[in-house]
Amino acid sequence: MDKIIRQAVEDLAKSKKAIALTGAGISVESNIPPFRGKGGIWEKFDPMEYAHIDAFLKDPVKVWNALLKDMKEIIDNARPNDGHLGLARLEQMGILKTVITQNVDGLHQMAGNTDVIEFHGNFAWHYCMECNNRIKTKDVDLSDIPPRCACGGIYRPECVFFGEMIPPLNLMRSRQVSSTCDLMLVIGTSAIVQPAALMPIIAKQSGAKVIEINPEQTPLTGSVSDYIITSKAGEAINRIMAELQTLL
Ligand code: APR
Repeated sequence: MDKIIRQAVEDLAKSKKAIALTGAGISVESNIPPFRGKGGIWEKFDPMEYAHIDAFLKDPVKVWNALLKDMKEIIDNARPNDGHLGLARLEQMGILKTVITQNVDGLHQMAGNTDVIEFHGNFAWHYCMECNNRIKTKDVDLSDIPPRCACGGIYRPECVFFGEMIPPLNLMRSRQVSSTCDLMLVIGTSAIVQPAALMPIIAKQSGAKVIEINPEQTPLTGSVSDYIITSKAGEAINRIMAELQTLL
C-alpha cells in the first residue's frame, strides 16, 4: 500500500489539472450514513418508495417523516472530516481545481473548497413547490410535517430525487472538467449511479490518471482506476497529504 500511495502522490504532484469526484463515503467519518452497504440508508428504505420524486409528490408527509426530517438533523450537525479538509488544502496548494460531489451535505464548501459542483443538488436550501420561495434548510420549521411556505405550498429540498433530471449546468460542467482533467481522485463512491459514475470513465478516456479511494471494490476497480487505495477517506487523504509534503 505504501508503494501505491507513493506512486499515486507522484502523479498528483505532477498533475496540472486535478479534480475529485466524491460520494457518500467521504462523509461517513462525519457521521453521515452512506446509501449502500453496511448501515446504508437504502438498507432501511426502498429508494423507489422514499426517494423517488413520484413517491414524494404522492405522499410528502411519509417521505418527510421517514427520511427528510432525519436527514436535516444529521446534516445540520455534521462537520467536515480529514477527507474534506485535505481536499480543501489541495485546492489551496493549487493542485485540486474542482470537486464534483454527489453529496448534498455541503461539507466540501464548509471545509473550504471554492469550486464544488453539486451533481445531485444540495440540502442546504429548500424551496416551495407552489411559489418557488427559497429558504435555508436550517430555517425550515419542522413543527408541522410537511413544512409549508407562507403561501401554503410544501417545501422540498433542492436535491435531486430519483426520477428527476441532473441540473443541466452541473451535468455539462462535470463532463467538461472530467474530459479536460489530467488526474481524478474518486473518493467514497460505489460508482453505480448514473450519470455521475460516467465521470471517471470520461476522465480515463481523455487520458487522465484515476486514483480511487474506497475500502471496498467498485466497478471502477481494476479497470478504470490506475491506483486503488483501500482505506477510509480521511485516513487515505492524511497519508496522501503527508507523502505530498515529502515531494514538495
Ligand atoms: N471512506 C471512503 N469510502 C467509504 C467509507 C469511508 N469511510 N465508508 C464507505 N465508503 C464507500 C463504500 O464502500 C461505497 O463504495 O463509499 C461508497 C458509498 O456508496 P453509496 O452509498 O452508494 O454512495 P454514492 O456512491 O455517493 O451514491 C450515489 O446514490 O442514492 C443515490 O443520490 C444518492 O448521491 C447518491 C448516489
